[in-house]
Amino acid sequence: SSPLRLGIAGLGTVGAGVIRLLHANADLLHARTGRTIEVVAVSARDRTRDRGVDVSGLRWYDNALDLVSDPDVDVVVELIGGAEGPARALVEAALKAGKPVVTANKALVALHGSALARLSADNAAPLLFEAAVAGGIPAIKTVREGLAADRLLRVGGILNGTCNYILTVMRETGQDFASVLKDAQDLGYAEADPTTDVDGLDAAHKLTILAGLAFGRPVAFDSVHVEGIRHIGADDLAFARQLGYRIKLLGLARMTDDGLQARVTPCLVPQHAPLAQVDGVFNAVVAEGEFVGRIMVEGRGAGAGPTASAVTADLVDLARGQAITLWGVQSGTVEPVRACPISVG
Ligand code: HSE
Repeated sequence: SSPLRLGIAGLGTVGAGVIRLLHANADLLHARTGRTIEVVAVSARDRTRDRGVDVSGLRWYDNALDLVSDPDVDVVVELIGGAEGPARALVEAALKAGKPVVTANKALVALHGSALARLSADNAAPLLFEAAVAGGIPAIKTVREGLAADRLLRVGGILNGTCNYILTVMRETGQDFASVLKDAQDLGYAEADPTTDVDGLDAAHKLTILAGLAFGRPVAFDSVHVEGIRHIGADDLAFARQLGYRIKLLGLARMTDDGLQARVTPCLVPQHAPLAQVDGVFNAVVAEGEFVGRIMVEGRGAGAGPTASAVTADLVDLARGQAITLWGVQSGTVEPVRACPISVG
């Protein structure tokens, strides 16, 4: 049957990873979908940079919007990043044109998910974003599909690989924050602007998305309480250890009688608890449902391979014709729900 033809916008760590994975697993993907998944066009700033993958045969656009008007592009893969600017313009234009979109852009989905869901529904264009939450962990699938039958009470976990890596290495080696952050950047874990990671915003984007899926309505990002890890020092990690705890940056959302609570904060986790064992670039998604009880899924939360794996899983869904819509909303915009204010003493 016909190939699924991709136009990829953004060829950084993740974009190059997707091209590498598609090449390495071409036979397997064909066997699983019955179709060839192939890149036909790309849009990225620097044509000459060595990305470790062969992009020589591909159509190249300076303007990512040209991917939308290219009749040979069936699916737009948005890997530019950022909640506004070219990424948002591209995703909106693709959905309006009825083209499915796969994105790893957590800021975009967290801030504009409700409006994008409407565009997606109105134009019958799937919008898939498995890679936006917790890198290689099938977090979206777990919450939206795996727990589809249950009423969820809590969702969240360790949602930023850079912060978890920094806290782990500081604890294990006593190195200072700045030098470990530099390592995380070199390893391709951190965002272009790492303040998004270390100040907790990236984890809050992911929590916003997960909570929206878990509780059936988009969540207002600006109502999520956010603290990062900048102020955590080697002393804090050592004191926590003496008391039998580890410090983890956790994002947690729960539905209470007073409404939704959602927060990202450094937490003391008892050192033998499963979440305390999740170290380095690993993330963990936890959820609690009335019938299922507690679950935890763990895996690499950042980096080229894990994130490419999640992006390509969405492409497999599209190739199989199995993509489902964002909040399950058929049409109309759903007003995001606001989390209750949290007072921190
Ligand atoms: N910068 C993110 C992290 C990448 O460190 O978790 C994955 O979203």
